Formats: sequence, structure tokens, C-alpha cells
Amino acid sequence: MSKSARKILVTSALPYANGPIHLGHLVEYLQTDIWARFQRMRGHDCIYVCADDAHGTPIMLRAQSEGIEPEALIARIGADHQADFADFLIQFDNYHSTHSPENRHFAETIYTRNRDAGHVTRRTITQAFDPEKSMFLPDRFIKGTCPKCGAQDQYGDSCEVCGATYSPTDLKDARSVISGATPVPKDSEHIFFKLGDFKDMLKGWLVADKTPEQHTDTRHTAVQPEIARKLNEWFEAGLQDWDISRDAPYFGFEIPDAPGKYFYVWLDAPIGYMASFRNYCDRNDIDFDSYWAADSKAELYHFIGKDIAYFHTLFWPAMLHGAGFRTPSAVFCHGFLTVNGQKMSKSRGTFIKARSYLDQLDPEYLRYYFAAKLGPGIDDIDLNLEDFQARVNADLVGKVVNIASRCAGFINKRFDGRLSDTLNDDSLFRNFIAEKEAIADRYEHREFGQAMRAISALADRANQYIDDKKPWVLAKNEDTLPEVQDICTVGLNLFRVLLAYLKPVLPAMATSGEEFLAAGPLDWINLSTPLTAHTIADFKPLMQRVDPDKVQAMIDASKDNLEPTATPTGPLVDDPLADEIEFPDFAKVDLRIAKIVKADHVEGADKLLQLTLDIGGETRNVFAGIKSAYSPEDLEGRLTVMVANLKPRKMRFGMSEGMVLAAGPGGKDLFILNPDDGAQPGMRVK
Ligand code: 2FM
Ligand code: ZN
Repeated sequence: MSKSARKILVTSALPYANGPIHLGHLVEYLQTDIWARFQRMRGHDCIYVCADDAHGTPIMLRAQSEGIEPEALIARIGADHQADFADFLIQFDNYHSTHSPENRHFAETIYTRNRDAGHVTRRTITQAFDPEKSMFLPDRFIKGTCPKCGAQDQYGDSCEVCGATYSPTDLKDARSVISGATPVPKDSEHIFFKLGDFKDMLKGWLVADKTPEQHTDTRHTAVQPEIARKLNEWFEAGLQDWDISRDAPYFGFEIPDAPGKYFYVWLDAPIGYMASFRNYCDRNDIDFDSYWAADSKAELYHFIGKDIAYFHTLFWPAMLHGAGFRTPSAVFCHGFLTVNGQKMSKSRGTFIKARSYLDQLDPEYLRYYFAAKLGPGIDDIDLNLEDFQARVNADLVGKVVNIASRCAGFINKRFDGRLSDTLNDDSLFRNFIAEKEAIADRYEHREFGQAMRAISALADRANQYIDDKKPWVLAKNEDTLPEVQDICTVGLNLFRVLLAYLKPVLPAMATSGEEFLAAGPLDWINLSTPLTAHTIADFKPLMQRVDPDKVQAMIDASKDNLEPTATPTGPLVDDPLADEIEFPDFAKVDLRIAKIVKADHVEGADKLLQLTLDIGGETRNVFAGIKSAYSPEDLEGRLTVMVANLKPRKMRFGMSEGMVLAAGPGGKDLFILNPDDGAQPGMRVK
């Protein structure tokens, strides 16, 4: 490592251990990985750590519903996450868990040091309590009618219909999502972190010059300008005490001086960054304190989504400072991912899991596409699947790989793989090298889109050079054959520079290219010396064009991702205004008259009735979310309309083999469709 090497520790947000990684998550992991790989390629000491965020109520309840211990759940999901990340070529130096001894240690240390310094207080608060489950209910586990607009089935903290925010006690007809019971108010003592104590410290942190000594760039501030504006709004609104405790039952760490109370998941989640790093230090003999002590000279960067800025730019620096640790050098926020211009949607097949992508497509396509779209700001980025295919095909396969394949054939077949002894025309090569620092600067400041455009413009120039020189014409004549070798030697040297510039984004292609060039690993330092009088290896295609059928297969596979517990007649969870459909789509729906021969309550379900439907000689078992409007005895013997060719769906209570049609806003105002007299079970509905 050179003397000016920087010591850098980077993190991505810790994914919750109760669900799969999807393409939305990957924006962040790919952004961080590209940045970390770039730093390593520049010769810096850059360590990238992450972990699963394993605590909290949702994880506890999910484990219960699966009938397993939370430890088993988080182990299984943690393994899935790591496999997804590895297959997307995300190169963590360490991947750990917040449910670890290291994390318990640091959570306790940070808590007790803050407490001893007077930054913690206790008071009794009243919260919604589920009397059947004997547990306090987080806002998201309470549903009811919006006190503002009357919309039903809204969460305890906010209404998705009118946007109102309120406290769960304001909700009408409130019920526990877990048991269906009506929540009751109950008192409990909670522990609070006094964020207000840190107002001046946080203001100072925000404006302090974060320029690392070895790195002379003034663009380093703790947060982006958009986030700084937000922080100033928060300062003006006043910094409230933060509730850091939760009552049992809770999956987390018990608070040392408060038996039966646990650290809130968001208290120990960012501490997981330290815990993962500590675990890495212990296994690699690295001095933890030189990174985390208050006077550390190392750089510390957190890459996160803009939705969790509050936790990372207020609570986190404050609790670190209060415990005598260093604060982050910077927190880098990014925006959300849309697919084809819209929020990711299960009904459109655009809620794409990492694994559904990997089952069909090359991870480097997405790495490149996200890089081409990413900038230093917090704007959302869009994955347009048409543009994705066009761009990968045009930029990578059509331009970059094409340079190598155009030149390699001649060098391998006509010159035994041997490059010319000198670069007879090195002006273009020098031009390419002259861009090195400008491109590095783009990477450094997370202007990846601009870096990709600069690289693509260079690839155009390389192709133009080959087009102008026409080696395929010169190769027909023995006299001009040496020129072919010279041209292709220049071409392959240009390719080598481009490949080095793309290496943080396309590590696998870079490895294949390195094998083909047979001159060792590409880095930012050894690049300026051209490759001459050197024998290259055989050329193998470095990347295939995107197969549109595979893109479609990925979308089709993603359409099956609907949660098995969704009620069949409920609104589409993420898509109230569904797209228009074509007539042939409608014609595919097989609507039949069905006779309800039996209707029953479903034990443990607060919305569902189990219906046995006769569609003319064939009976179907269907779970319908109509319990709020009908009693089973009202239904038996009646006719209704059902979708008969819906793929059977496994629900928590059994298989549902179709869907009955109902109309209305929900609750009591829900009407199953009643065909006129004369209809017979099994008749088709046109
Ligand atoms: O929002 C989330 O997905 C959290 N699991 C992120 C935690 S980041 C850090 F604080 F651990
Ligand atoms: Zn409302």
C-alpha cells in the first residue's frame, strides 16, 4: 500500500432479516460496492462491512407464524441474503448479524455511557396493548378506520387514502392485526434518549470540514445539500426525546438495568456496523479503535436510502458522540427505485426479487445499468426494462466488448497472439490515459452516470479508430499485414484502459478480460504503461446480448410473488389504480355462476369465510374476505359469480381454488354479486 493510502470503512444499510432482497435494495448495495471496489483499485485500504438487521417485532411474529425460533428464521434469511449479494458480485469484507455478541456489547456500551453522561431519561407512556396476545402493539400492527376520511383498513399511524397521520388511539374501530382483538390503552415505563442534548454538536457535525487529510477535496460534507436542508427543518421543529425501549415480548437485547425491557431495533441496528467491523477486526488482527475512537483519522461512510436519514444523521452521530466514539465522515443518501416509471408492483411483475433476476439474467447488466443511472443526489432512479436492454446491448456489448472482439481475432489468428513491439500510434492511448483522473473524480464523488458516459464516449472513439483504419481490408494484403498488428495492438490497449475504468462496475468481465490480456490485474496505477511485445490468450466472448425472453421470464416469475396471506377479495396491496388491460386479457377470465353450498367461519382469520362452491358438478374451496359483510348462514344456498380459472393459491388456512366477485368499499358495504333468477351453477358469465 502506498504511503498516501486512505483508511476507509464503508457500510450499506442492514437489510431486515424477514424478507428477501429485491432490486430496490440493490441500488444501494451496488452503489456502495462500486465505490468500495473503486477505492481498492486506487490502492486505498477500503473495508466494506454489512450485516442482517435481525431484531424487532415483525421478525419475532414471522418466526412465530412459521412455528420456529427467531434464531432459526434469521439464520435462514441471512444465508439467502448473503447468497443473493454474492451472486450480484457484492464484495463485503464482512457480513454479520445484529443478533451477535459483538452487537450486544456495543449496544450496552453505547447505552450505559450515554446514560452515565445524563443523556437518558425514563417516563411512563400509554400505548395500545393487545389483551389477547398480551403485548404492546407497534403502530403498524393496529388497523382501523381513518379518523379523518373514514377509509377502512388503515394502519395505526397514517392513512394511505388521505395521507393523515394520527396516533393509534384516534383510529376508529381499531383492532390488533395479530389477534383481531380491540386494543386497550396500557401504561408502561419507557427509556428515552435525549436527542435535544446534541443539537449544537449535530449542527457542528453538519458543517465541519470532513476533508480527510490525505484527500484534498472540498466537496466532502457530512450530508448532501438536500439532506442538510431537511436537517435544518428538523432542528427548527425541535429535537424530541427518542424512545429506545420496548416491552417484552420482543426479539432483541434486554436492557441491562431494565429487566423485561429491550432495546428498540433501531437503537442496535446502526451499532451493527460497529459489531460487524469488530468481528472482522478480531479475525484479521486489525485495530478497531483506530477506526472508531473519537480522534480516529480513518474515514467512515454510510450509504443509505433517503427514508432512513433521520436515524443516521441525528440519532446515530448523537449516540456515538455521547458514548465517546467518532462520528461518521459522511452519510450518503440515495433515492428509491421505480420500474418502468412506477412504484415496484407485484401485480405488474415489477416487484423483482434479487433471485428472480439472477435466475434469468447476468448480474453485470444491472450493475452497469444502475451505475449509468446513479448520481450523487437523492433523486429516485428508474429501471426502464426496454432502456435496460438497449443500453446494455449498445454500450457494453456493441461498443466495449466489440473493440476486443474486432481486434483479438486478427492478433490471435494472424500473429499468434502477439502484440506489436511498440505502440506505433500512441496519441489516442495517451488521450485515454489523460482521462484517468477525471473518471476517478467522478467515481469518488458518486457521479457514476457521468463516469459511464465518459467511458462510453471513449469507447466510441476506439471504435471510430478501428473503423477508420479498416484492419479487415489491410489484412487481405500481405504487405499491409504488419499494420493490422499495429492497429489491433492499439485497439486492444484502448480496450484494456476501458476495462480498467469499468472494473469497479463489471468485476467479472474485468476478470475474464484480464485472463484474455494475460498481464495481471488491472488497477489505476499500472494502467499508463501500454501492453506491447506481449502475448495475449484466446479471446472468449466477454458478454452476451440481453435476451428479451429472459427479461419477460423474470417479470412472469415475479407475478407469483403475492403474499400467501393476502385475502382473495382484498384490494391489490400496492396498486389501487391498476393498469388498463387489453380485451384478450379480460377474455382469459373464466367467470362462472357458482352456488354457495356451504359457508363457514375460518378459525384465526378475522376477514375470511370459507366457501364451498358448486359450479355445475364440480365443487371448489374458496376463501373470501367477506366476513365483515356476511354471516355464513346468509350465504348458504345463494348464487354468486366466481373466477373459475384462477390459479389455486396456498393460503395460511388452506388452498383457495378461485375467487368470488364482490363490490363495494369494504367492511359492511361489501356485496357479493347475485345473478338473476334462471342462472344455473356452472353457467359461463359473459
Ligand atoms: O430500513 C431498513 O431496512 C433497516 N433495516 C435499515 C437499518 S440500517 C442500520 F441502521 F442498521
Ligand atoms: Zn384517511
